[in-house]
Amino acid sequence: MIVLGLESSCDETAAAVVRGGREVLSSVVSSQYELHAEYAGVVPEIASRAHVERVVPVMREALERAGVGLGMIDAVAVGNRPGLIGCLLVGVGAAKALSWSLAKPLIGVDHVHAHLYSGMLDRQEDGSIFPALGLVVSGGHTALFHLDSWNQVKRLGGTIDDAVGEAYDKVATVLGLPHPGGPNLDRLARTPGADERAIELPVSRLSRESLDFSFSGLKTSVLYAVKGVPNARDPDKLPKPLTDERKADIAASFQKAACDAVMLKLARAADRLEYRALLVGGGVSANSRLRGCLEAFAAKRGIHAVIPPMCYCMDNAAMIAGLGGTLLALGRHSDMNLQADPVTAL
Ligand code: KG4
Ligand code: ZN
Repeated sequence: MIVLGLESSCDETAAAVVRGGREVLSSVVSSQYELHAEYAGVVPEIASRAHVERVVPVMREALERAGVGLGMIDAVAVGNRPGLIGCLLVGVGAAKALSWSLAKPLIGVDHVHAHLYSGMLDRQEDGSIFPALGLVVSGGHTALFHLDSWNQVKRLGGTIDDAVGEAYDKVATVLGLPHPGGPNLDRLARTPGADERAIELPVSRLSRESLDFSFSGLKTSVLYAVKGVPNARDPDKLPKPLTDERKADIAASFQKAACDAVMLKLARAADRLEYRALLVGGGVSANSRLRGCLEAFAAKRGIHAVIPPMCYCMDNAAMIAGLGGTLLALGRHSDMNLQADPVTAL
């Protein structure tokens, strides 16, 4: 089965052609970084307008690169939730039009679940991965999942405030790094000599059993480390000169605290059940330190780690087409009533 996938939930317009749920024939991503850079964040209305302009050319390019004509497409998959509503509507509208005009099945795919699937792309080996523990770490989401199949995904917990990627982006802005902050902060934290224990930062635990995350306290602590604590008398809490060395120390200390917070809750979830696999996805899974922690964690516990290659960490449509094809094979499909939905399924 050949599936054309479309993704437009935030600031990437993407299309991909995937065969058999796994084999990526093409994956085209048109990023809008340059449109949002001056605002240091995504402006929803600008993003939706850019999707309208880009969706057809991106789709054409995906078909061309795959060497697949529209007549060879067996189904159309689209990320229909969660995301910015105006952005989602563009992808959903395009996917519906294609599905209807080609008389081929339509399948709406949850973007967050698709991130969990991204490590399955281009993989050969089979064998059951379920029950699997899922971790999505992105700009919009930080959540843990229990998966019994691709059709049965249960959310175990998630962030109660900022997503980890959002914290990365905000901290990067405080440190004066250009947008997109995450990869730039990752690079700065790896500066030779940067000391990840230089600044003490909080790792949120919440309650003893909680599988939820919180990153707003960590973000505020970095703000205070850079700008000083408001109304502080203690000289230690006053702002210090932001030298290149201190910047790198703050970046490394933040990166350690953010990774520790993710790994703490992951370990709590893994303690509850014997999982066969750990499925990871989302933009922050591109982070060098987190990838190292995840690989070591899985190796120590004997869990099969399914971590996507760099090209599928960030938003893309191959994960949408791949999961879409897999869900269709499991008997799921949508119809012309498919709605764009800003929130994820529970
Ligand atoms: O998955 P994604 O493309 O979009 C959402 O679904 O949110 O994730 C984008 C997020 C951004 O916050 C970006 O800064 C972060 O992923 N990111 C990183 C790295 N690469 C991307 N964060 C930390 N380290 C990285 N290397
Ligand atoms: Zn995403």
